[in-house]
Amino acid sequence: MGWEAPRSDLQRSLSPNPLLSRRSSSSSSSRSFIITPTALLLLLSLLIILGVFLPWAGMPDFLFSSNSNTSSQHSKWRDYTLAQAASFVAKNGTVIVCAVSHPYLPFLNNWLISIARQKHQDKVLVIAEDYATLFKVNQRWPGHAVLVPPAPDSQTAHKFGSQGFFNFTSRRPRHLLHILELGYNVMYNDVDMVWLADPFPYLQGSHDVYFTDDMAAVKPLNHSHDLPPPGKKGRPYICSCMIFLRPTRGAKLVMKKWIEELQSQPWSKAKKANDQPGFNWALNKTAGEVDLYLLPQAAFPTGGLYFKNKTWVQETKGMHVIIHNNYITGFEKKIKRFHDFGLWLVDDHALESPLGRL
Ligand SMILES: *[C@@H]1O[C@H](CO)[C@@H](O)[C@H](O)[C@H]1NC(C)=O
Ligand SMILES: *[C@@H]1O[C@H](CO)[C@@H](O)[C@H](O)[C@H]1NC(C)=O
Ligand SMILES: *[C@@H]1O[C@H](CO)[C@@H](O)[C@H](O)[C@H]1NC(C)=O
Ligand SMILES: *[C@@H]1O[C@H](CO)[C@@H](O)[C@H](O)[C@H]1NC(C)=O
Ligand SMILES: *[C@@H]1O[C@H](CO)[C@@H](O)[C@H](O)[C@H]1NC(C)=O
Ligand SMILES: *[C@@H]1O[C@H](CO)[C@@H](O)[C@H](O)[C@H]1NC(C)=O
Repeated sequence: MGWEAPRSDLQRSLSPNPLLSRRSSSSSSSRSFIITPTALLLLLSLLIILGVFLPWAGMPDFLFSSNSNTSSQHSKWRDYTLAQAASFVAKNGTVIVCAVSHPYLPFLNNWLISIARQKHQDKVLVIAEDYATLFKVNQRWPGHAVLVPPAPDSQTAHKFGSQGFFNFTSRRPRHLLHILELGYNVMYNDVDMVWLADPFPYLQGSHDVYFTDDMAAVKPLNHSHDLPPPGKKGRPYICSCMIFLRPTRGAKLVMKKWIEELQSQPWSKAKKANDQPGFNWALNKTAGEVDLYLLPQAAFPTGGLYFKNKTWVQETKGMHVIIHNNYITGFEKKIKRFHDFGLWLVDDHALESPLGRL
């Protein structure tokens, strides 16, 4: 129904009948106004303008240049490869990576502001999980976003615990492995994080894989840097939210194992898994062959601790490096919590982001 009306209007304006009926009975239908003297005059003026100015401007390109610019930019970024992007952003052989889809842009910006304050933003590579994100980031900050095809179905990728979310997060170990194969150190972060200090001084020694514990139980400040023992589910609770990898055989092995684990335990309605258990099984199964390093809890606390234990936050004041807004689901709740803790920077400090205000 909806589209039939315009079509019949079109047919009417193409048929000579309205014109005839207009002539024969001037008081009738107001629908046949299409070719009034005024309209004829307008049409004539338009033809004159086109006839005079177009040849004078030389090329019809003149009218469309901004258009073709956009589309040439688009095809340029569409063909931009992970290898090109990594080589463009890497400093000291290191790349800082996140993977985001369009709805997460406010979190991306918040995270970027906090990284810019530590002067590490130049190393950031945004792995765009949809074309809107790819174009938006590269338009504001050329070269800092790349899309590894095929883009996942972004409509289904947002809900934590859904199969779409699982599919989306399952791409991460592949992206990270690829960057390792290219020979770079890579720091992966979720974008619901905020840097309060520079994490690089904490990436001591030459271990293969550095990570943080997602357990909220308070540990002594001098806790071990070994992989924690398995929890109730038989595996540890390491966070897949922040991982630093050196381009070593060991780190690549962990990524390959992670990919395997995700394939062998695919998403199911019953489990509603995300990518984290697979990462933990990969760590558990490769621990004997790989040099693993657990980062200090006071510097890299889980959201389950930082946002829930004021006493602990007081006790460890000045030691916090990266804060993760987890142990909560939902965009609005996360934003409100960042807000409440003075960690939502995008409203007042957007100009510190290389993307500016989004
Ligand atoms: C078209 O692109 C060129 C370089 O890519 C740029 O210098 C120019 O400003 C762009 N023009 C428009 C209208 O966007
Ligand atoms: C590269 O590493 C050196 C030595 O670790 C450091 O002094 C320098 O600031 C680093 N440069 C960048 C851009 O991070
Ligand atoms: C997730 O991936 C699986 C396997 O590739 C596919 O069959 C399924 O349709 C995907 N689901 C969503 C919601 O993206
Ligand atoms: C941490 O410190 C306590 C008390 O000084 C000591 O007993 C314990 O062995 C230390 N733990 C580690 C892992 O070094
Ligand atoms: C790996 O998990 C198994 C089963 O829970 C456990 O027995 C083993 O100790 C774990 N290995 C490591 C290195 O944590
Ligand atoms: C909160 O932190 C304090 C100080 O570190 C600790 O003693 C206490 O057990 C923590 N509370 C909970 C519920 O973990």
